[in-house]
Amino acid sequence: MEATPAANVVTTTVSDHIALVTISNPPVNALSTAVRRGLQRAIEETSADPAVHAVVICGAGSNFIAGADIREFGLPPQAPSLPEVGALIEACPKLVIAAIHGAALGGGLEVALSAHYRLATDTARLGLPEVALGLLPGAGGTQRTPRLIGAQAALDLMLTGRHASAREALRLGLIDHLATSDDIAAEGIAYARSLLSDGSPVRRSSAQTDALADRAAQQAAIDAARADVQKKRGLFSPGKIVDCVQAALDLPFEQGLATERELFTQCLESPQRAGLIHAFLAEREVAKAPETRAARPRPFQHVGVIGGGTMGAGIAVALLDAGLTVTMIERDEAALTLGRSRVAKVYDGLIQKARMTEDGKAAVLSRFHGSTTYDALAHADIVIEAVFEDMAVKKAVFAELDRVCRAGAVLATNTSYLDVNEIAASVSRPGDVVGLHFFSPANIMKLLEIVVPAQVSADVVATGFELARRLKKVPVRAGVCDGFIGNRILAVYRQAADFMMEDGASPYEIDQMARAFGYPMGPYEVSDLAGGDIGWATRKRRAATRDPRARYVPIADRLCERGWFGQKTGRGWYLYANGARTGQPDPEVEAIVAEERAKAGVTPRRFTQDELQRRYLAAMVNEGAKVVAEGIALRPLDVDVAMVHGYGFPRHRGGPMKWADIVGLPTILADIRAFAQEDPLFWAPAPLLVQLVASGQSFDSLNRA
Ligand code: CAA
Ligand code: NAI
Repeated sequence: MEATPAANVVTTTVSDHIALVTISNPPVNALSTAVRRGLQRAIEETSADPAVHAVVICGAGSNFIAGADIREFGLPPQAPSLPEVGALIEACPKLVIAAIHGAALGGGLEVALSAHYRLATDTARLGLPEVALGLLPGAGGTQRTPRLIGAQAALDLMLTGRHASAREALRLGLIDHLATSDDIAAEGIAYARSLLSDGSPVRRSSAQTDALADRAAQQAAIDAARADVQKKRGLFSPGKIVDCVQAALDLPFEQGLATERELFTQCLESPQRAGLIHAFLAEREVAKAPETRAARPRPFQHVGVIGGGTMGAGIAVALLDAGLTVTMIERDEAALTLGRSRVAKVYDGLIQKARMTEDGKAAVLSRFHGSTTYDALAHADIVIEAVFEDMAVKKAVFAELDRVCRAGAVLATNTSYLDVNEIAASVSRPGDVVGLHFFSPANIMKLLEIVVPAQVSADVVATGFELARRLKKVPVRAGVCDGFIGNRILAVYRQAADFMMEDGASPYEIDQMARAFGYPMGPYEVSDLAGGDIGWATRKRRAATRDPRARYVPIADRLCERGWFGQKTGRGWYLYANGARTGQPDPEVEAIVAEERAKAGVTPRRFTQDELQRRYLAAMVNEGAKVVAEGIALRPLDVDVAMVHGYGFPRHRGGPMKWADIVGLPTILADIRAFAQEDPLFWAPAPLLVQLVASGQSFDSLNRA
């Protein structure tokens, strides 16, 4: 066997007339410039080599190719482009076979579609997930996929970005053959040999016509997809994907490719692409904290949960879903029964939707235990406390944990606002105490703030990160302060919203602004969903320590005093007639708002939606900058991930700090300074923001530091 190094990352070996081209670019064989050059050279060389009759392309490591190199988007393009490489592969006069294992995603699948035949191992995952990055498949994928599997299946893959299994890909016609073993190189070579011996011709995806033959059916699929995309306004690339598939139906291949290129470039230049790729990378970066580098997590399997209320039950479900053993502790049998029923209700809901069987529920619940005595936690590896938000109650619980838990058990609190340093200092083993701040509903929401008190051991923090990984949550490291990262920032932009309301905007206009920005709900709708009493309790707790100079808007208190807590009481900021989930604007609320304005001596003024948005977001960004400067968040990207995964900030905008970079920090600072004319205390510019503007830098520069 003769080895020809085509480039460091792409190697070609020729044996018995078959060239094996192997891509080796860890971790996921992304199509970096070096890989594209290597592939180009390999195809040129094998095309010209009379000894080669067939070419097998495969990936080293655990994937075929995970796609274009995400880190290269936005940088000046380097030749050859991926479409050029695809064209070269397709034009190759020798049979080209893509041998797929692991991930064949985005540009990776497009390379495979440029080949003449495709096989995959049973566990391979194939997909065109570009839509999740604000892009469309830009290397012929929008033209070749419909030609191979028809418009409907192609649109489904491209608009959802989902990964198809090898078996589904075979059924759809995306691949031709299922490998019988995991030795993908050997499987690829054997398949190439069988194609050669059968006299199989070079077969180019661009020339396939069968799947598009029924034009009426294709057009119907495109029209349906377009209607669906138009309903989900806000995202840019889905509509462009539909346009490309229309071009695949209407135009010759080369012209379709030109359309694809033009629309791909538009997507590439859109701020949504920048936002979504930032989110993708940031979601991975947050998992890398100093403690995860410095220490190994402690092993765990048995987790105790104290409290079976809203959070305790949700946390228990999250733990059970990850295969862990759970012991719930409650105050008495009645409360424990309630806690159990909250857990069981989640699984009953799944059974109702036919997503779980009774047997499946029984199997999960066999790992769930309840007790009213702490001794049941003697062997627990981690304990998560989720009792009432009251320091005395929490300390009493931690005293019990200190008494019963084994040495080395991790003791965690789910507190929203209380001082985790104080809780840690109350036990004999403060090094074992950490904050694990889940979000409601805890079995659904992805964010997990890992709150790091002063005395905690690094391996305890690393255990928190490992728990997040096991629970498929997005961990964000947070320092100790009132509200940590997320709730602290939330408190500030909620205040900005209340100020705008008192100054003349209606809560409904503010909610509308937030939805138009891309939030699933506005702040007042969220308050109605969560229950206005929660915020009320926090405001009362803070009343004594509130800066007497700070502006305070009591309108929410007026609603709470009437018992209007939101959906659960039938009215809050909105009216929920007969248990409705969607509220209607309430003229009585508007009257209360007007009355409070008058009491405060405010002459109401009109706000445009743009003005509302600028104030709402400037408040968020300004507090985010303070949180970063104080080291509460490690980097701006941690703020971004927290706000996206815990507070509904639209992911396609990357997060508030990324959004601020895109808008331009000088613009944000100028706004803040203008607002500060009215309220210098609330709108005091964050020193970090001032400093970044002075030095011409962005928040992103701190992410890379
Ligand atoms: N480019 C560059 N780096 C990538 C990458 C890519 N396409 N895909 C993954 N990585 C990196 C990750 O950032 C991560 O890096 P760090 O270790 O430094 O954080 C590392 O590879 C491992 O990734 P994961 O942690 O996600 O590993 P996993 O095993 O959980 O998942 C995966 C592997 C399924 C391939 C997943 O990484 C993934 O979905 N990747 C993105 C795939 C994608 O969107 N491809 C389309 C790209 S766009 C395109 O191809 C456009 C075009 O048509 C021209
Ligand atoms: P909840 O009131 O629904 O539940 C608290 C539960 O703790 C009750 O079932 C109560 O019986 C139990 N409990 C009280 N004292 C106990 C004790 N000494 N021993 C055992 N059990 C005891 O409260 P919720 O909403 O679940 O909140 C719990 C904690 O989680 C609080 O610290 C809260 O700040 C925090 N949190 C709440 C979020 C939310 O959205 N509800 C979000 C994130 C954190």
